Amino acid sequence: MATASAIRGTFFDLVDDPWKHVGREQEAARFTFDGLMVVRDGVIADFGDYAEVSRRNPGIQATHIKGRVIVPGFIDGHIHFPQVRVLGAYGNQLLDWLQNWIFPEEEKYGDRNYARGAAGRFFDALLAAGTTTCQAFTTSNPVSTEEFFGEAARRNMRVIAGLTGIDRFAPEGTVISPDFFYRETKRLIGEYHRKGRNLYAITPRFAVGCTDEMMEACRRLKEEHPDCWINTHISENPTELRTSRLEFPDCHDYTAVHEKHGLLGPKFTAGHGVWLSDDEFRRFSRAGAAISFCPLSNLFLGSGLFRIGRATDPEHPVRLSLGSDVGGGNAFSLIRVLEEAYKVGLCNNTMLDGSVNPREQDMAEAERNKLNPYRGYYLATLGGARSLYLDDVLGNFDVGKEADFVALDWNAGQAAMGWHQSLITGGNVPETMDQAAQLLFGIMVCGDDRNVDETWVAGRRAYKKAGA
Ligand code: GUN
Ligand code: ZN
Repeated sequence: MATASAIRGTFFDLVDDPWKHVGREQEAARFTFDGLMVVRDGVIADFGDYAEVSRRNPGIQATHIKGRVIVPGFIDGHIHFPQVRVLGAYGNQLLDWLQNWIFPEEEKYGDRNYARGAAGRFFDALLAAGTTTCQAFTTSNPVSTEEFFGEAARRNMRVIAGLTGIDRFAPEGTVISPDFFYRETKRLIGEYHRKGRNLYAITPRFAVGCTDEMMEACRRLKEEHPDCWINTHISENPTELRTSRLEFPDCHDYTAVHEKHGLLGPKFTAGHGVWLSDDEFRRFSRAGAAISFCPLSNLFLGSGLFRIGRATDPEHPVRLSLGSDVGGGNAFSLIRVLEEAYKVGLCNNTMLDGSVNPREQDMAEAERNKLNPYRGYYLATLGGARSLYLDDVLGNFDVGKEADFVALDWNAGQAAMGWHQSLITGGNVPETMDQAAQLLFGIMVCGDDRNVDETWVAGRRAYKKAGA
């Protein structure tokens, strides 16, 4: 017998890409003031106005979530499981930061007890931030991948991860051989891929840390397991970019390294892409490959400003997710990631609106950098799902998708929040899509994980904020 449950409340989700509806972004969204979601075996069986859905499902008992806006669970396209403890390490750019803080911490994950304890903390932090799906790096020790998938399965969360391959540019305890990587990846794919909600990503850490032999191992794995994802980093930091040019002299740019090894294509995600050229953006778009935009990390590590307006060029749109990039990003909260994304977008806007240099004016690209709430929440939900080729099961409240969602409290957080938000609805529940979007914008730029009141995974409540 299928188990059915239902949730009643005020729902907001995206049904299309708002960048396709410039100036009319509401057309990309759906607002359900008094809605009902029926969930059967973790999947949305019915959704719509309460009056209609309750008539179609007589006698169904609903949990009524009042005074909240319910949005789809957030999707973090780029995060590092073994970096929880090194959040916010002081003072270095990427390459020094990796050597000084990251590799020593990741080596601890060879100890199963340490990795298991960390996995509990990692998923607790994700759920408290409203994140229900992530694509994660583990370490180069298979123990960390096993513990990651084990904990995700216990929580029934939809996740993507894989053994992280690196065979140079790291201490002895971190590097592994391409042979070991190939064999262990195959074993782990057999053990975890599509078991429950677990999905496997072949994971070359970044080209600077991977020889041609390691990249070839990835090509072979993708050919032998075409259903798997590929997860990596690209063009994050100028020194990294220069190093990749030296290490791959036969490749004319960073993207060409992945093309050369047959990796760029659907289900390929690279984090960052801060320094990608216009031509590289076009090649990502043509290939159906994705970039995970990690503004919290890009600002924290001083990496640079991702060109949102270029990546969303309607002629060559690139699939985009948001990534916290914990611990390069100094918080789990995609709400805080959205805040930084908004600021990056406005800086780009200033550079392109002609006020700095009239010769570089591009008003259309300048505008595409502006993250209104429709664009912001799209990136955190349906856009992220599309970038990961998971929009058949995640991203909004369409019937047939998995019932992962978050109940947001627009008044929580800073002491000033309630009065600030009362500008929109006088403290009441939003009655229109525009009001809901304005409250969500307030959360996005003034909020954080304190605004996450409840997080539900596959139709079950997995997190409730303490004291709320
Ligand atoms: N590039 C290679 N490894 C890493 C990492 O752990 N974090 C970030 N931000 N960039 C990387
Ligand atoms: Zn990263």
